[in-house]
Amino acid sequence: MDNKNEFLFDLKTPETTWKGPPAHSYFPNGQVSSTVGSITAAEGEHGLYWCLDSVMHKNPEGMDPNKTPMPHFHWKGYETFFVDSGSLYLYIDGMRALAKKGDIVQLQAGQSQGMFFLDDVKWRGTYHDFFTYPEAGDVGRVKRMMPELADDPELNALSTRGFMDSNPIEPFLCKEVPTEQCSAIKNPNRPHASYEFPGVSMRIVVERWENGGVKELDCAIMEPGFTAQWVKYPPIRELFYLRSGKVKFTIGGKEFIADDECVINAPRFLPRSIEVLEKSEMYDLGGQPYWSLFLQNIESIRHYDPSRLTKETIDGLKKRFKIQIESIGFKG
Ligand SMILES: [Fe+2]
Repeated sequence: MDNKNEFLFDLKTPETTWKGPPAHSYFPNGQVSSTVGSITAAEGEHGLYWCLDSVMHKNPEGMDPNKTPMPHFHWKGYETFFVDSGSLYLYIDGMRALAKKGDIVQLQAGQSQGMFFLDDVKWRGTYHDFFTYPEAGDVGRVKRMMPELADDPELNALSTRGFMDSNPIEPFLCKEVPTEQCSAIKNPNRPHASYEFPGVSMRIVVERWENGGVKELDCAIMEPGFTAQWVKYPPIRELFYLRSGKVKFTIGGKEFIADDECVINAPRFLPRSIEVLEKSEMYDLGGQPYWSLFLQNIESIRHYDPSRLTKETIDGLKKRFKIQIESIGFKG
């Protein structure tokens, strides 16, 4: 694969995909607990499109999975993790449940969280509202301009949350629940809703209300032969995660093939289209188009008043719900 492609990040080859050296964290015994590589940076008011590729290492022998490890919460931040190998215990809001390869862990602001990794887990994360503390920047400015105040406890108390919105808490008590009963563990085979079209099944995996209204996470299960053409100058950036399959992309006139575990950046305004080569599971990590409402509206009209389902109606709904797809096709 062409590693110089600015749109493609193949997570199967982290040595060429990660920006800079990996960051590490450590278990209490000193062993490495996580290896974290940066893929794309956060952007805009909500810090969208931030993507990190991590390996969470198997918890060492002797650590007790009954006492919540890594207990923490986020004041405002949201996290979505693709579990792409192995398995883990997720501890959340008084529950403990098993998540494994194929699942997606969706964590909301204010939830008590912890994890115990039963294997080395490929843990692909996207986040939003993680860097929304203006205090950190303002306190930093005081320190830059008046370095003599850098160690003043009164100044540091103004920015206790620091830069990363991740905050330790006491290990919390948990009740074991089946995976399906833990609302934070998602799977494209257990969506909120799914909508079928020739060559594609659209699954609503994380609704907007599970992301503070900021974004949604939808999964397209696409069959070989499925094609999609975007509007001429798509106004919204998309950051696709092709979790499995094979898709030919054309972005900005450049044609390339992406396969399993590839992140594809589609900057705004750049014309784009896809052709699916093998059965594929794909997400848009940006999550800005309102697919859930759009598809619900289409299905409602089809059911209650099918004569209204004209091109004009559909175009109106696309505009209202920020859908950038001009047309779809299927050579099945
Ligand atoms: Fe977290």
